[in-house]
Amino acid sequence: MILLDGKKLSAEIKAELAQEVQRMKDVGQRPPHLAAVLVGNDGASETYVASKVKRCHEVGFESTLVRLPENITEEALLEEIEKLNENPTIDGFIVQLPLPKHIDESRVIQAIRPEKDVDGFHPINVGRMVKGLPAYIPATPFGIVEMLRRYEVPTAGKHCVVIGRSQIVGMPMSILMARKGEPGNCTVTICHSYTKELAAFTREADIIVAALGKPEFLTADMVKEGAVVIDVGISRIKDDSNPKGYVIKGDVKFDEVAPKASYITPVPGGVGLMTVVSLLYNTLLAAQKKIY
Ligand code: GUN
Repeated sequence: MILLDGKKLSAEIKAELAQEVQRMKDVGQRPPHLAAVLVGNDGASETYVASKVKRCHEVGFESTLVRLPENITEEALLEEIEKLNENPTIDGFIVQLPLPKHIDESRVIQAIRPEKDVDGFHPINVGRMVKGLPAYIPATPFGIVEMLRRYEVPTAGKHCVVIGRSQIVGMPMSILMARKGEPGNCTVTICHSYTKELAAFTREADIIVAALGKPEFLTADMVKEGAVVIDVGISRIKDDSNPKGYVIKGDVKFDEVAPKASYITPVPGGVGLMTVVSLLYNTLLAAQKKIY
């Protein structure tokens, strides 16, 4: 079993990004600048956004955190987005999801200028990705593909089963694994809450991407010997014996699945770390006008 080490890989990629930022500064360009919009104070979202901002500084990017109150109106949020769209010193920005219930998430995403949509959630970027045109690839699937690439995990002709069909992970992941190229060229099955006999699919899978958000869902009896197992889950489970008051669990029961896997990602220390560096990578692409 080979551990797909997100800590090691993300450190490597950060070093590459830092080097590129230095090169930009050396030729008199300003560093890439990412802004993040955080509405309300959901604990998990706070943690993710803080991590995104911190990683920016580690590689020499500029970052701006725009904090907005939970009760902000949709119109006021759209105005904030327009300011970021118009601000020439900001290369790319994200609106942390989920948004409060009274706000139409889809409308907010569509208000982001596609050129600055480094999350790759705008329909223009999704459409461009599907067509194989230059596009911002959503950070989590991008990070997973980069892991498979750098570990040279063979994917061509393999059966990849994606569990979960979210706009953020499952849907884009299934497209990337099916498309021409390496990693890619897979036969892809998407399983979701309506799938009957889900384990019959996962047992046939050469590659499993577990992105359904149910802690320790994937157990050893659901996995073929030698499968590649990618765990996208990051559920917070209350645990008073932990100083933080919670522990993080993935969607995979790691201890029993790992011995059967050829490659597997740990949680924490796997996909999550790759997600953040992929967002930084997209921001670099935005700053260098590599997509648009
Ligand atoms: N919420 C969970 N994952 C993400 C992400 O990748 N981007 C944003 N904006 N919100 C998220």
